[in-house]
Amino acid sequence: MTQQQTLESLLATRTKAGEDVPPPADFAAHALDRDDSAREAAAADPQAFWASQTKELLDWTSEWDQVLDDSKAPFYRWFPGGGINASTNALDRHVAAGRGDRVAYHWAGEEGETRDITYAELLDTTERLANVLRSRGVGKGDVVGIFLPMVPEVAAAMLACARIGAIHNVVFGGFSVESVIERMEVSKAKALITAAGARRKGKLAETKAQLDPLLEKSETIETVIVVPVAGDSTLDAPMKEGRDLHFEEAIAAAEPHAEPEATTSETPLFILYSSGSTAKPKGIQHATGGYLTGVAWTYRHMFDIKDDDVYFCSADVGWVTGHSYIVYGPLMAGATSVMYEGAPDYPHKGIWWELVERYKATIFYTAPTAIRAAMKWGAELVTAHDRSSLRLLGTVGEPINPKAWHWYSEVVGEGRCPIVDTWWQTETGHCMVTTLPGVDTMRPGSCGKPLPGVKVEVVDEDGNEVERGTQGLLTIKEPWPGMLQTLYGDDDRYVSTYFEKFGPQTYFVGDFARMDPDGYLWVIGRADDVIKVSGHRLSTAEVESALVSHPAVAEAAVVGQDDEDTGQAIAAFVTLEGHGSDADPEELTAELREHVAERIGKLARPKSIVFTSDLPKTRSGKIMRRILRNLVEGKDLGDTSTLKDPAIVDEIAAQVKGG
Ligand code: WTA
Repeated sequence: MTQQQTLESLLATRTKAGEDVPPPADFAAHALDRDDSAREAAAADPQAFWASQTKELLDWTSEWDQVLDDSKAPFYRWFPGGGINASTNALDRHVAAGRGDRVAYHWAGEEGETRDITYAELLDTTERLANVLRSRGVGKGDVVGIFLPMVPEVAAAMLACARIGAIHNVVFGGFSVESVIERMEVSKAKALITAAGARRKGKLAETKAQLDPLLEKSETIETVIVVPVAGDSTLDAPMKEGRDLHFEEAIAAAEPHAEPEATTSETPLFILYSSGSTAKPKGIQHATGGYLTGVAWTYRHMFDIKDDDVYFCSADVGWVTGHSYIVYGPLMAGATSVMYEGAPDYPHKGIWWELVERYKATIFYTAPTAIRAAMKWGAELVTAHDRSSLRLLGTVGEPINPKAWHWYSEVVGEGRCPIVDTWWQTETGHCMVTTLPGVDTMRPGSCGKPLPGVKVEVVDEDGNEVERGTQGLLTIKEPWPGMLQTLYGDDDRYVSTYFEKFGPQTYFVGDFARMDPDGYLWVIGRADDVIKVSGHRLSTAEVESALVSHPAVAEAAVVGQDDEDTGQAIAAFVTLEGHGSDADPEELTAELREHVAERIGKLARPKSIVFTSDLPKTRSGKIMRRILRNLVEGKDLGDTSTLKDPAIVDEIAAQVKGG
């Protein structure tokens, strides 16, 4: 049999869900955790567990008053009163310990450029940038926007904010400039750190020039700091006197030392806008002490981090995975990471594996969508590169199908590497459920068991725990250190989104899941109007509101549709204003997709758009998205008797089938 045939037959026999895979013996013998004592200790006394762990993992400048104050639930306070600064924990203490020359990031640019940034260098840039921000009147509690491609400056920008007690608000580079400005306005950002331009697959977007007309209208942004395009400083961004600063010039002129602000455990560290059930994104706000504790613990233990590891996470820093496991987790641990600027298929579809070989990466963390794409592109692109350095693999962001799991394990990991399927959310701050790689048996398709100190429960609509094996709503029963502090500026929405359904002791996740008899969690998908396209979190309501802002559109309904490649895809149903009905459907589809790209970003473009004379509505006029969802998924439509016009379903169904 050829290698390909062997793989095919292996995958054919191993795609059944629930087939257990024990941790590879070699790995388990040297793992940090070789037994379940952490889970046992945390179960016996969670507060004592987290207190001892945070003391081991982080430097506190002063002791907390108590580990957890739950007197104002659901506003939980972790380590209140404790003094801690995120930037000194990420940088200064490693440099002070003589590890300044250690590489923090091996950066690889899209066009083959490379840069190694040491901890000492990152500290220097961070301190200088902190001074630049301070000189512009940015200080404790101020919000600073960050809209940058995957360049090392992004880490310095986040840490400079943390150093001075400012709150960073990073926006993913794939969002449109309109979305960026919207997120700046709602968070009243005082400054924005952005780039002259961003490279993507050989093309250059002139970010700063595109932002400028919108910045003119901004009522809050007083300072814009402009990072040059990576690997190419020829693009001169337009600069506005008095407001805009060149990053490199400002850094060179700044004082090198910046005293860290005396931040505490409860100082907000960042907000990250994420999609929810409405068109208005939620500013998920994380505090410092608890968040760093949870991130530092999970980073070390789920990835089994050792001193000589080279860690490569393919996520973008603009999502929570990038915050927790490209910036804060690795830097808390003093680890060395690989940071790649480009897309997984640029300059070629084997670039990730080329980087694994070049930097001898030992740990690789990515999304199931990326694994499915790599499968499609072919195992040869992976096996062409030496992966013998790899010892652990991870996934995040969406459920992984067993076939992709085994392919990842066999092809990428050569059967040698355990896989951690890490379940968590922007809100949870850090991973909550996964297998401890040296301890737990893996069960492909299930993300594993709750981590130490995490208590999950699958419940029915009334909040009663359902029987093991039954699908229900996922909840988290006890507070955990990295949990969101609130939604920025909107405590009421925090309570109503997460704690109204089941009360202040029970965090409502928003996922459907089932727990199997052995306590392994199987996440089915979202129970709300959030969709995950290639692991990217989007809200159907946001896409709908972008669609209806187009003059030709009267109404829009958007649902998630299962998709072989991207996990879920966006299916849109649109009714047109009178004057739009004559338009050529193909042209209009292209125009609407472009319109959504401008309003939100390319990632939110609907995969399909069906034009229809009406949408399925109840007699009171409410759009019944459930029917559309069932329709696109080929499921039984369910009860259609409450519809105002049941015939419309047939019209739409005919189009879905035909189209
Ligand atoms: C989904 C990403 C299955 C889930 C870190 C969750 C997952 C949402 C997994 C949060 C996983 C994340 N298995 N589903 N391992 N990880 N999800 O906020 O639906 O972008 O609620 O955070 O992604 O998405 P977010």
